Amino acid sequence: MRTARESRAYVLRNIYGGKAWADGQMLRCGNWLHARAWLPRAGGTQGTGTSPPATELGTDSGSSRPVLYRDPNAATVLAGSGVAALSPDYYAMTCPFVEYTVRSVVADALMKDPTLAGSLLRLHFHDCFVQGCDASVLIDSTDDNKAEKDAGANKSLRGFEVIDRVKEAVESHCPGIVSCADILALVARDAVAMARGPYYFVPLGRRDGTRSVASDTFTTLPPPLGNVTLLAQMFAGVGLDLKDMVALSGGHTLGIAHCPSFKARVQNELDTLDATLATSLGSVCSKGGDAGTAPFDRTSTRFDAVYYRELQAKRGLLSSDQVLFEDPATKDMVNAFSMNPYYFFQAFQQGMLKMGQINLKEGDEGEIRLNCRVPNP
Ligand code: HEM
Repeated sequence: MRTARESRAYVLRNIYGGKAWADGQMLRCGNWLHARAWLPRAGGTQGTGTSPPATELGTDSGSSRPVLYRDPNAATVLAGSGVAALSPDYYAMTCPFVEYTVRSVVADALMKDPTLAGSLLRLHFHDCFVQGCDASVLIDSTDDNKAEKDAGANKSLRGFEVIDRVKEAVESHCPGIVSCADILALVARDAVAMARGPYYFVPLGRRDGTRSVASDTFTTLPPPLGNVTLLAQMFAGVGLDLKDMVALSGGHTLGIAHCPSFKARVQNELDTLDATLATSLGSVCSKGGDAGTAPFDRTSTRFDAVYYRELQAKRGLLSSDQVLFEDPATKDMVNAFSMNPYYFFQAFQQGMLKMGQINLKEGDEGEIRLNCRVPNP
């Protein structure tokens, strides 16, 4: 019988280390050292021309590709959070192929529809901010209960069927073992990586909640018209600081928004909105009505720092995006992330690690849901 450590080493060596994936590129993984990006990229290189802080980047032996090392603060986040301890080895003995299974389903979904990357990331965010990371966002409404997913702020969430497919695949290998909350965290990580963003370890062992009530979203999900003071308060309420907030808002490097989310900005914020963008957004909303959509940045299926450059050019889509550049409390961070994408990636990675541990269920609390849409009978 292998120990958990040996089992994990086995998985890393035999499943990930030698597994060709995504157009023949190798996913390199082991001892917390990861290739920062392992998907094929246009032009075959990934340099951005900016240098990261020396402590954050090294060189992957055998190639000149930059890599991110394990963040020394990560252990502090885990140890100091006062919640049930998560572990990257959590399923090593009970479901050793879980990460590979999740990755295959996500790769398949994004191959068919790359615009889902942002939607899958957003699901994890909307899960963690309401009742903690417990997959409460996945529960369906019933005759007696309007669930979170049917609240106004969640109406445009997408990707539930991808989570269903992942859960089905995972259940077929190891029934009743892997929580839907862990699946959401892994899916978000893989979606970001497949959109060419940073790859990071996701500690596992979350438990699923049984409560999902639409009104819980009213005070917990940040509104698109929020100013920095309000947004910072809401992030602080779940243990995230200003840097986390600005870095995680960089999730808007992916995806789109609908007119109701930005039409007030087009009408009232012309002093901080680029005139050309104002005209095109105005026409999108007058032609398409509430169904009209616009991308957050010019590269909305690629995880990059263009979002921050858009803010500098007054091209932020939501008020809550643009205020990050207009407010002196966050402006320098926007400038830093825009200038140095590696710094953004590192801060995003750290922010996701913290966000993924909001209000976890401890011990006997929660359950391993068998169907992510329905609490266990
Ligand atoms: C700072 C506070 C935030 C506010 C006010 C906010 C608000 C919004 C709004 C209004 C939309 C568009 C909804 C629509 O019109 O369809 C949206 C989309 C999105 N949000 Fe946020 N968000 C915030 C933070 C975040 C964070 C922290 C993440 C991830 C880490 C994130 C990821 C996304 C993504 C990827 C989309 C696009 C989804 C898609 O294309 O389906 N957001 N957000």
